[in-house]
Amino acid sequence: MSREMERGYDVATGLGAMSKTYVDKVPRQAIAAFPSREAIMARGKDRYEIFCAPCHSLSGDGKGMISRRAAALGATGLVAPSFHDDRLRHVPDGQLYATITNGLRNMPAYAHNIPVQDRWAIVQYIRALQLSQLPEKTEQSQ
Ligand code: HEC
Repeated sequence: MSREMERGYDVATGLGAMSKTYVDKVPRQAIAAFPSREAIMARGKDRYEIFCAPCHSLSGDGKGMISRRAAALGATGLVAPSFHDDRLRHVPDGQLYATITNGLRNMPAYAHNIPVQDRWAIVQYIRALQLSQLPEKTEQSQ
């Protein structure tokens, strides 16, 4: 049995075991992998800044260095979206987790590079980033 199978189905996949739809909130078991709220947030920030900020930017506005280079070259399909867009502010936590796990079109998959509990920590951190600013505030890109 794989390590991911031993965890709850929701923790491994971001989907409810019965409903098979994305879980709204980070599963309790995923949060419990960390000693405190501060610890999951600190880990999420650390991992986000390493793995995600190069495209999504430190503030999450999608203007990271790689995205800006892609935009300058006219490669719009490689430009990361802003997490402060209305749609992404409202997708369930499980969907953010699944995007990190599986990737999406030009967005890479991280199932093999980022452990399950760190993926959930990143989801928590993205929610904090979204709460930290109004949708239109975008000047904090890296
Ligand atoms: C190499 C650049 C790159 C990196 C690194 C990257 N992304 Fe993305 N991301 C993208 C692009 C490009 C898209 C748009 C994909 C599309 O819709 O075609 C995207 C889309 C997304 C979306 C929106 C999915 C949706 O529902 O539309 C989320 C959420 C996301 N990324 C999260 C992350 C997280 C979290 C990380 C770090 C673990 C990360 N990304 C790392 C480029 C990147």
